[in-house]
Amino acid sequence: KLNNKSVELGDDTKKGTRVKVFGRIHRLTVGKSATFIRLKDGYGLLQCVLQAGDLTKTYDALTFALETSIVLYGELRTVPEGNTAPDGRELQVDYYKVLGAAPSDLDAITNKVSRQSDPWDAAMLDNRHLVLRGETASSVMKLREFVELAFIDTYREMQITKVSPPAMVQTQVEGGSTLFKYDYYGEEAYLTQSSQLYLETVIPSLGDVYCIEKSFRAERSLTRRHLAEYAHVEAELDFIEFDDLLQHIEEIISRVVDKVLADEKASEYIKTLNPEFKKPSRPFMRMKYEEAIEWLNKQDPPIPNEEGNPHVFGDDIAEAAERRMTDIINRPILLTHFPVEIKAFYMKKDPNDLRVTESVDVLMPGVGEIVGGSMRMEDWDELIAAYKKNDIGHEAYYWYTDQRKYGTSPHGGYGLGLERFLAWMAGQHTVRTCTLYPRFMGRCKP
Ligand code: 4AD
Ligand code: MG
Repeated sequence: KLNNKSVELGDDTKKGTRVKVFGRIHRLTVGKSATFIRLKDGYGLLQCVLQAGDLTKTYDALTFALETSIVLYGELRTVPEGNTAPDGRELQVDYYKVLGAAPSDLDAITNKVSRQSDPWDAAMLDNRHLVLRGETASSVMKLREFVELAFIDTYREMQITKVSPPAMVQTQVEGGSTLFKYDYYGEEAYLTQSSQLYLETVIPSLGDVYCIEKSFRAERSLTRRHLAEYAHVEAELDFIEFDDLLQHIEEIISRVVDKVLADEKASEYIKTLNPEFKKPSRPFMRMKYEEAIEWLNKQDPPIPNEEGNPHVFGDDIAEAAERRMTDIINRPILLTHFPVEIKAFYMKKDPNDLRVTESVDVLMPGVGEIVGGSMRMEDWDELIAAYKKNDIGHEAYYWYTDQRKYGTSPHGGYGLGLERFLAWMAGQHTVRTCTLYPRFMGRCKP
């Protein structure tokens, strides 16, 4: 592995260790006195030098087309002052063998993938498998792993149990319009929109729980932040009040950021991908939906609703307005108390103001909503009435409703879009570059 730093280096005065390295050619510079190969594997980069002489007679530039896989032998040495070689070392090659050639003609990777790969460009999306070979795309994917592991570690420290609910379901969570339907042995079934309902059913037996599973949404809008398949970090907490939920969400985000920044490699990725990134200061700003409506109307010029009119109570805050507000305020916002009418059927009403729910979205500069959560209806009758009001046949939900029959409790939870969180930390313009192979309307390949 090219990031292995345990090998003894040589310099002008002493011999280094002779090593054998595998990798792919990431960059090539052919000079008069030497050829430089920037070798790459999934772990790092290594500068390899072939001094002009017998060795250089065995190849021309085409032998070393970019992405060629190769094994090289030689002595690992410290580079002289002022050299830009990664990790301050280079391999003085004395033998090599090409293992897998790569095209150097029209099919050369540089012709397939431009350096400033535009995530909206169809050719770039078709060639995502090649785009992923680039430093930026692969850094984002490496960082994603750190972020995911930071969530897992933090939940573990909080004694929250990881579970794995089914992806094949017969109930909706976030509205019928974004359901992916399919035929399940002759019955209608869906790909899950959220594991929330299942998490709620297991808190009596397992205590606080979380999962990191895929959620699926048949979104019809092609925005920067919508995917048809995304990684959903969801947690459900028992015997809490709304304020506990808000505290917890702020805590988990802050601790995950701390963990990622505390890791040397992960913080290096952030420094290159998003040099501006700063850990958000606590406490996060809190704002009620109703205050947000006023705030939007008070701007000069006012930020209108989707129809171009001033916002009124009950309006959805659309993506564009939400993002403008977050960018102007420029810090994380816990936006709370959304009206009953624009929120999901299961959300608990605020006992002090029955027009609104005990709900929260977390908004982040550059991205907007990254978390959606709420307290859940505890009462059986109220839940049955909510199904009716939302035109949901309650029979399919018997197992969820039973939660209110067998020892109901004040509880709540949230879902966080991992790609959106990553887009925020890694400064990515769109969630499409925050997942290996993005899925959205019109795209199901590669
Ligand atoms: O706000 P949402 O729809 O809430 C729920 O699904 C709740 N049932 C979660 C819960 O309480 N357990 O989705 C939660 C988060 C959003 O804030 C967003 O970050 C992400 O999931 N998300 C998407 N990410 C990418 N593409 C999409 N189409 C997304 N839809 C939601
Ligand atoms: Mg939401």
